[in-house]
Amino acid sequence: MTSVLSCTEWWRSAVIYQIYPRSFADSNGDGMGDLLGIRDRLPALTELGVDAIWLSPFYTSPQRDAGYDVADYCDVDPLFGTLDDFDSMTARAHELGLKVIVDLVPNHSSSDHRWFQEALAAAPGSDERARYMFRDGRGENGELPPNNWESVFGGRAWTRVTDPDGTPGQWYLHLFDASQPDFDWNNTWVRRQFEDVLRFWLDRGVDGFRVDVAHGMIKADGLPDWTPPLAGGSMGGAGTLDASASATATDAADAADELAASRAPFWAQDGVHEIYREWRTILNGYEGDRILAAEAWVDPLTDMAKWVRPDEMHQAFNFPYLETPWAAEPLRAVIDASISAFTAVEAPSTWVLSNHDVVRHASRLALTAENPQGHGIGPNSAGLPIPELGLRRARAATALMLALPGSAYLYQGEELGLPEVIDLPDEAREDPTWFRTDGERYGRDGCRVPIPWEADSPAYGFGPSDAAWLPQPSDWAPLARDAQGNDSTSTLSLYRHALALRRAHELGTGELEWLDTGAETVLGLRNGDVLVYANTGDTAVTLPAGEVLLSSGPLGEAQLPADTTVWLRA
Ligand code: GLC
Ligand code: CA
Repeated sequence: MTSVLSCTEWWRSAVIYQIYPRSFADSNGDGMGDLLGIRDRLPALTELGVDAIWLSPFYTSPQRDAGYDVADYCDVDPLFGTLDDFDSMTARAHELGLKVIVDLVPNHSSSDHRWFQEALAAAPGSDERARYMFRDGRGENGELPPNNWESVFGGRAWTRVTDPDGTPGQWYLHLFDASQPDFDWNNTWVRRQFEDVLRFWLDRGVDGFRVDVAHGMIKADGLPDWTPPLAGGSMGGAGTLDASASATATDAADAADELAASRAPFWAQDGVHEIYREWRTILNGYEGDRILAAEAWVDPLTDMAKWVRPDEMHQAFNFPYLETPWAAEPLRAVIDASISAFTAVEAPSTWVLSNHDVVRHASRLALTAENPQGHGIGPNSAGLPIPELGLRRARAATALMLALPGSAYLYQGEELGLPEVIDLPDEAREDPTWFRTDGERYGRDGCRVPIPWEADSPAYGFGPSDAAWLPQPSDWAPLARDAQGNDSTSTLSLYRHALALRRAHELGTGELEWLDTGAETVLGLRNGDVLVYANTGDTAVTLPAGEVLLSSGPLGEAQLPADTTVWLRA
């Protein structure tokens, strides 16, 4: 990429901070974060040094999936405030130089949405039903679901409706909760509605959209039965593939064939791309540099790159990177695979370690048992992490990530080193995964706990009262932002320092070159005038000579300790 492009196309190298509105900051003391709370805390993010914010949904919603069940795409839920509050928050962000990205949830609506309620009231075969995926059941009396698909949250992906006269009727598809009916994206009426939604938010000045389940909107013709090749239940993963498996071109081609053959008929269907080409045209019609970022759990990366071809979306979340363990060899493989796949379509690589759907990386990187994506961890999980080890690895992993060229995503609270909250009381849990699996999967509440701002305030300064929609751990005072601000060894200081250096050394627009470190467990790379060494092993190695710019943890005498990343001046 030339630097001219990088200057105008901010998203190629941006650091984008994910705000989970429920848990960021509460302005009125009801225990639920809100838009005015966000507005008033934005200066902390410019101080941190990020370029943009992405807000998870704050739209009208019965909150059965924390707002990813939208009942009105063009309004704010009273829980979070009003449209005026949104405008005020956006104006403040722009004043501070932060871009604003909102979440768009097009695969499904809430079952409370007027469009779905009208569909329920209308007859089979009607235009209203055609907005969603209604089908007759199988079996003599339609008592069996139309196919065998399972919901990402557990249980079957179909629910049978009761007709207005009280008799059992058709079934509707929901890849997620029963309260999240899937739209039929082959229906042009649905397409037109969403074009209006895009325009509504673009007109209000948003800089882009993070598109939820961007790989799921089109289903294979005939909705064929499908049995996953591997048990596991990833968050809509189109298959799993260890990045390190693509060692040779033949291996990669074989693995890609295998994946294509095993691909679920509801993920990554070719038809979705036409939708993004249409959306891209709409965005291009607006001033400024507005973007589409895909949440597309698609393997391998060469397939995911289709979402970011020049006339489609701008970015796709790099989940293969997120899913890579803390180990030099697979990290190097996934970084190489990412840069080559995205560069081939002229898109930037993105990097991400945490979000509202996964176990926070300060815990995840020290898990010692399998933890399929979306399952979460709780008191009875196997292989629970040692907190100190998790944090050490998380800091080292972040220091590596922020040295890579491309765009990076941060999830609120990771800059404080927050761990996953493991011991939430059962009665506090809200994730539909927990309910749909009868508590077999803990789900994602543990990464969604309201974040701490002030060590000595009620709810750690999350809001003006001691209310918090999920209970905060009693030992979080030292993790509060104000407690970390003046401590040069804190995780917050590490993030601030890394972000400032990343900007000063233009690492986001740089180029990566691998260095030979002579040790299998140590990654070495050069990005411009910065050398980076990451020791993923469990013993210290000799630290190459040079001026230390950043270190994720204390260094020994000429030693790079285990689970530590260092940046040196080249
Ligand atoms: C995406 C969201 C997740 C949500 C799901 C259904 O994966 O990130 O939080 O539950 O879509 O909308
Ligand atoms: Ca509130």
